[in-house]
Amino acid sequence: MGEVDQAFIQSIEHRANLDTIEIEGIPLIDLSLSHTTDINLLVSEIGNACKNWGFFQVINHGVPLELLEKIKVAAKAFFDQPVEEKRKVKRDEVNAMGYHESEHTKNVRDWKEVFDFLIKDPSFLPASPETEDDEIRTLSNQWPETPPQFSLLMLVREVCQTYAREVEKLGYKLLELISLSLGLPSNRLNGYFEDHTTMMRLNHYPPCPCPELALGVGRHKDAGALTIVAQDDVGGLQVRRKSDEVWVPVKPTPNALVINVGDTIQVWSNEGYESVEHRVVVNSERERFSIPVFFFPSHYVMVKPLEELVNEGNPPKYKPYNFGKFFVARNRSDYKKLEVQNIQI
Ligand code: SIN
Ligand code: FE2
Repeated sequence: MGEVDQAFIQSIEHRANLDTIEIEGIPLIDLSLSHTTDINLLVSEIGNACKNWGFFQVINHGVPLELLEKIKVAAKAFFDQPVEEKRKVKRDEVNAMGYHESEHTKNVRDWKEVFDFLIKDPSFLPASPETEDDEIRTLSNQWPETPPQFSLLMLVREVCQTYAREVEKLGYKLLELISLSLGLPSNRLNGYFEDHTTMMRLNHYPPCPCPELALGVGRHKDAGALTIVAQDDVGGLQVRRKSDEVWVPVKPTPNALVINVGDTIQVWSNEGYESVEHRVVVNSERERFSIPVFFFPSHYVMVKPLEELVNEGNPPKYKPYNFGKFFVARNRSDYKKLEVQNIQI
C-alpha cells in the first residue's frame, strides 16, 4: 500500500481514474442575466442544469472577487498553522463544529482536514419543539471567545464571516431562481431559511502519495438545500453524470462558484431535481483548498414534497422529516436513529 494508511484505501470500484478525460462538463451560468429583462432565459438555464446535472458553475454571482481570493488565502493560513494550534479548536464529543483531521465518508478515511462553523451565531437558534435541547447545544462554534490579542484565528474568522454574508445573499438569489424554475413564486422557499443553520467549511487536501488508492472525499450527496463551493485552480471535484454515471471533472473556472442541489431540494421538488453524487480526487503534487457553504433550512422545518408539486399522478415520494433532527444526527454519525424514507445517507 506504499505510504498510505489502510484506513484511506478505497475499494477497487470506487478508486479514481486519473487519466485526463475530455468530456462535456457541468453547465456554466452567467448570473448577470438576472439584471436583464430576459429573466426567463436564466430561469430555464438554472432549471435545466438542476434537472440534468444537479450541478452547475456560476459567474457574475455578486460575491466580490477580492473576497473570493481572500477566503482562499484565509483557508491556507488556517491550515498552515501547527497542528497543535488547530487542535485547540477541534471538533469533539460535545461540539460538532471546529477542526477535524480525520473525516470519513462511507467508512473510508478522506485524504483531507477540515474546519467547520455555522454562519449564524448558534446562540440565536431558537429552541425547537421538535428538537431536544441537548441536541442543539452540540452545535456551537469553536471560534475564540475574546482573543487576548491579535491572532491569526481572529483574522481568519473576520474573512470567513464577511465571505459567508455575501454567499448567503447569493444563496437566497439561487433559491429564488430555483423556485421560479419549478413554476413557483420566487419567494416560495425563503420562509424555510428564517433561522437557517447554514454551515461553512474550509477544506484542505494535502498532496497524496497514492492518489490512485485514496480520495479527498469519497462519493456522497449533500443533505442541505444548496451547496455553494469556492475552489482554487487545482481541480479534483468530480460529479457523477446522471445520463451514464461517468465521473465528470468540474473544471476550475476563474471567478466561478460551484453550485449543487442537495437532498432537501430533491425532497421539496419531489425528485424533479435530484441530489447528485460527487467526490474529490487528490493528486501527488499540489495541495488543494475548497470552501463549501452548505445552505441548510431552519432546524424546525419539516421537509416534505411541496404541495404544489404533488398530485394524484405524482404522489409525494417522501414522508415529512424534521431538518434539525436530521442534521444533528448526521453530524453525530448516528444516522440510523433517523428513518428518512428514500434518502440515502
Ligand atoms: C465536498 O463535496 O464535500 C467537497 C467539495 C470540494 O472540495 O470541491
Ligand atoms: Fe459534497
